[in-house]
Amino acid sequence: MKKPQDLILVIFGASGDLTVRKLIPALFNLFMKEQMPEHFVVLGLGRTAMDDEHFRQQMESGIERYGKNKGQAPDRKAFCQHLHYSSVNPSAQADYAIIKEKLEALERKCPCEGNYIFYMATPPSMFEIIPQYLQAHGLNKQGSSLPSRLVVEKPFGVSLESARTLNRKLQNYFDESQIYRIDHYLGKETVQNMLVTRFANGIFEPLWNRNFVERVEITSAESIGIEGRGAFYDHIGALRDMLQNHLLQLLALVAMEPPSQIDATAIRNEVVKVFHALRPIKEENTAKQVIRAQYSPASSGGKPLAGYLDEKNVRPGSRTESYVAMKCYVDNWRWGGVPFYIRTGKRLTNKVVEIVIHFKETPHRLFCPVSSELNHNNQLVIRIQPDEGIVFKFNMKVPGAGFKAQAVDMNFNYSDLGNAYISEAYERLLLDCMNGDATLFTRGDAVEAAWKYVDPVLAAWHHNPEIPLYSYPAGSWGPTAADELMEGENTAWRKPRSVD
Ligand code: BG6
Repeated sequence: MKKPQDLILVIFGASGDLTVRKLIPALFNLFMKEQMPEHFVVLGLGRTAMDDEHFRQQMESGIERYGKNKGQAPDRKAFCQHLHYSSVNPSAQADYAIIKEKLEALERKCPCEGNYIFYMATPPSMFEIIPQYLQAHGLNKQGSSLPSRLVVEKPFGVSLESARTLNRKLQNYFDESQIYRIDHYLGKETVQNMLVTRFANGIFEPLWNRNFVERVEITSAESIGIEGRGAFYDHIGALRDMLQNHLLQLLALVAMEPPSQIDATAIRNEVVKVFHALRPIKEENTAKQVIRAQYSPASSGGKPLAGYLDEKNVRPGSRTESYVAMKCYVDNWRWGGVPFYIRTGKRLTNKVVEIVIHFKETPHRLFCPVSSELNHNNQLVIRIQPDEGIVFKFNMKVPGAGFKAQAVDMNFNYSDLGNAYISEAYERLLLDCMNGDATLFTRGDAVEAAWKYVDPVLAAWHHNPEIPLYSYPAGSWGPTAADELMEGENTAWRKPRSVD
């Protein structure tokens, strides 16, 4: 594989959690796979005062603690030699002169012709300020073969209006083609495999529509709670934190039309078309179409689990949802009338991310099931995490007399590919950004279209406090009310096990 061109990667917020837990371990993995540029420098910037040596030590321990590949001490040392640090205040315009000087000095060590990536691993309040000051100091190089790139972390706005404002501001200083909005779900190997499964296999595509699919279920369940992030999460909630971005991206990959080619424009055009086709949720239908809930105290294996309201930094009596389930429709010829059920929540039974395509049942039931678990509908389960793979559920004859049928699985696990190494999401995204490939990053119009879809739900919750906020025991599969979203008799959410 071709290595990216020599570059300097500048991380704003380098003393924060994201840098040490995700970004540096991901860069180290790429380094170990010899996928980093021949010459590169990582320049960490932050308010915390420290020198290069101190920063290197912190990052080295981060690799040991959080890295998928921890390497050997000499490898870590060799990698850390590429790291530098400057203590600056990113909200002070004058400090950008220091940054510029530092970059000029580093260019002497690593000549890269101004091939810079600016990564904003900062709180969102900085997302408008940093690009403005970068531009003011001429650090937004445009128009060359590799222009400067600006990576924006989530959350990208908290509403349609704030996302629009942020887009306009960013686009004042950087061209849209230079802006890389992160949705780490798109960096997951099995999410990308969706495209290959759909478009590299002739058998699925003819069935992938309203004539054969009864419903689609998308789940991202977490067993952890809000893990000390109460101060942030309590103002955000599950709909903004997970559904507006990650779950809608998954929905778009399931629902999109085949792109004409595998490139950023073609794929992202198809994604945005899906968002535009989502049937708007009317205020009067919100309570029926969207279920919100909070976890209540419970116990698991004899251990008590706190309820949402008992978590640190959650406001007393908070009505922030830690769970949301929604029924969506994609109003186009392919999907007319097919419900897409999407759900996400904290403190559910297992950590599972999966997509289930439920096919329509046979027109006539001929055989007797051996148990009530017979799949009258074949299912294709796409496992994104853990146990990455694909399971096809179908029915077989039980050996012996008569015609008794039983549900069986045809299983493909990524782990069966032997030593196939599954890249961490950030690894793939950083590599793509270094190569100037924005396919797996969210485009400005898509972010706005996704907010446009969820904004009315937030407004309905805000204006109608009588819309129920259900509760579910910590460690369960969520509120029973979520089952009532489902159309049809005996239809319920799948209760995926960690290993299926
Ligand atoms: C983040 C959310 O975007 O995704 C977190 O802010 C959530 O609340 C995380 O825990 C889940 O990511 P993953 O990759 O573990 O499914």
